[in-house]
Amino acid sequence: MPDATSPAVTPDMPKRADFPAGFIFGAATAAYQIEGHAFGGAGPCHWDSFAATGRNVVGNEDGARACEHYTRWPEDLDLLRDGGFDAYRFSTSWARVMPDGVQVNPEGLDFYDRLVDGMIARGLAPYLTLYHWDLPSALADRGGWANRETAERFADYAAAVMARIGDRVARTATINEPWCVSWLSHFEGHHAPGLRDIRATARAMHHIQLAHGLALQKLRAAGHRDLGIVLNFSEVLPAHPGAGTAVDLSDALSNRWFIDSITRGTYPQVALDGLGPHMPQDWQADMALISAPLDWLGVNYYTRALVSHDAGAPWPCIRNHQGPLPKTQMGWEIYPDGLRNLLVRMARDYVGTLPLVVTENGMAWDDAVQDGQVADPMRQAYVAAHLNATRHAISEGANVQGFFYWSLLDNYEWAFGYEKRFGLVHVDFETMQRTPKASYHMLKAAVS
Ligand code: FCB
Repeated sequence: MPDATSPAVTPDMPKRADFPAGFIFGAATAAYQIEGHAFGGAGPCHWDSFAATGRNVVGNEDGARACEHYTRWPEDLDLLRDGGFDAYRFSTSWARVMPDGVQVNPEGLDFYDRLVDGMIARGLAPYLTLYHWDLPSALADRGGWANRETAERFADYAAAVMARIGDRVARTATINEPWCVSWLSHFEGHHAPGLRDIRATARAMHHIQLAHGLALQKLRAAGHRDLGIVLNFSEVLPAHPGAGTAVDLSDALSNRWFIDSITRGTYPQVALDGLGPHMPQDWQADMALISAPLDWLGVNYYTRALVSHDAGAPWPCIRNHQGPLPKTQMGWEIYPDGLRNLLVRMARDYVGTLPLVVTENGMAWDDAVQDGQVADPMRQAYVAAHLNATRHAISEGANVQGFFYWSLLDNYEWAFGYEKRFGLVHVDFETMQRTPKASYHMLKAAVS
């Protein structure tokens, strides 16, 4: 059994010196997944009710307690500092800051104010995400992301948060993963609000992009800088020769819808062929706002997708396939080349020299504490391979300025409850004890 605190387990792990000067190493979390939504006067959000509805979440678990980060945050920030990290990517909870979606609860903003000061006191650059999925129930009641008004309310919320902590954050992202907010949640029904409705999907896919545009406009007017968005990408490949139009359409729905609109002000025609009849009226008038210039782009990457055309299925007639590569606890294939290819594609086809940041990359494994240690050689190899993929993308011209591991802590993995462990730090969800895994020690040795 290898010594789990030994950093020398993964020979090809790169070091800080292998990256350009100033490259940022960080770890990421999100509010609902770690804070404990029951604490501190947060209002109900749509994940609470989604989780309270049987069969949506493994074990019917919710984020009420999560990692109790709301009270244990000093210990969690110490872990980041002691691990030699430069930055921490966190999110503010809309339902905590505005329990009814509109009125500010000072207790909520006070919490984030203390948290940001805590980062700065430990030499950690705060990377803020304004929306990582905790939509206030009061806004969900009025149609959530299917309703244009939610995008407008989001801009107000973004302005309120930034007025309080914007002077101390390093970089701000408006939205985390609009594909998950819209398609995964309104077409596939896998995330809150759990809909399977093409009209709600088309509207959510537009309104989430509009929310970004409206927030950006408002934040720029208030003088804030270093503003961006976090998109998730997967490299879409044919499952077999003759996979037909599925690759192009799947890439359009999961990748191009979001990056094309943000950088070019267009949606891909093949996606509009299906969604067009369900789009909100006059959506074209919003495209200039949606494509306003960014200061940086966050890229989340986990795996690839293997697809084929399924003529017997309803639109979009895409069939997903299991691939042959080794898989994580999520069943996701480990495919580091996908990260390299996507970063290069972003630079080449979309953003040129605009700063790119890998805002999420990581893997779940069924980790267990043994003798006070957690051996996770699979994760160590995963991290090394994806950091090397990032280096290769940089050498091919992508201006990648940072890499954030997902996640600092084992946490509430949405519809999978607490079963899937992504953390560099193990969390015992009974005692709340934190135990750094071998991967944490390896990263620390590489970046310190
Ligand atoms: C991403 C989410 C993040 C986490 C990881 C595994 O889609 O942004 O909250 O769930 O996947």
